[in-house]
Amino acid sequence: MKQIEALIRAVPDFPQPGVVFRDITPLLADAGGFARCVDALAEPWQGSEVQAVCGIESRGFIFGAALAQKLHAGFVPLRKPNKLPPPVVSVDYALEYGKDRLEARNDALRPGERVLIVDDVLATGGTLDAACRLVDMLGAVRVGVSVVIELEALQGRQRLPGDTPLHALLRY
Ligand code: PRP
Ligand code: ADE
Repeated sequence: MKQIEALIRAVPDFPQPGVVFRDITPLLADAGGFARCVDALAEPWQGSEVQAVCGIESRGFIFGAALAQKLHAGFVPLRKPNKLPPPVVSVDYALEYGKDRLEARNDALRPGERVLIVDDVLATGGTLDAACRLVDMLGAVRVGVSVVIELEALQGRQRLPGDTPLHALLRY
């Protein structure tokens, strides 16, 4: 885990003063580090019969798509507004810096389908909470939530539905 941690860059005051931005691009650029990261993300969910991985735009797409391959599951993108053609289901949410909306195709998941939700960072939890609500709207089953980084001080974990296991590779 130390090797993965060493590949994440802390950038103070980005994108606004007071935020320490955790930049995952050096990790992605390192073939061994990225592979180890995807292996470690997948490990807790082997045997959980995950049928679909929902990745959150945009950094969640990178880890989510790789994880879907590893878990032999399909990949479903949860997208920022007005990117997917209608009909969509959508949920509004607040960010650490700003606000946004997540959308999914209204037939993106089958009722009862077993879903793992993936993103790079859990900060305030608004994004992942919105993702959980989208999965619920589609009638699928939340098997778990997986992130590379949890920013513990922001207590995002407390904002997520209590009935879904959360796995974070790294905590700051
Ligand atoms: C970042 C990050 C998570 C979200 C976490 O995404 O990738 O999705 O913020 O914040 P929260 O827990 O406070 O909701 P961002 O909206 O910056 O989009 P990006 O992945 O396209 O950079
Ligand atoms: N998304 C929300 N907060 C973030 C942070 N501090 N670093 C990287 N991505 C983020």
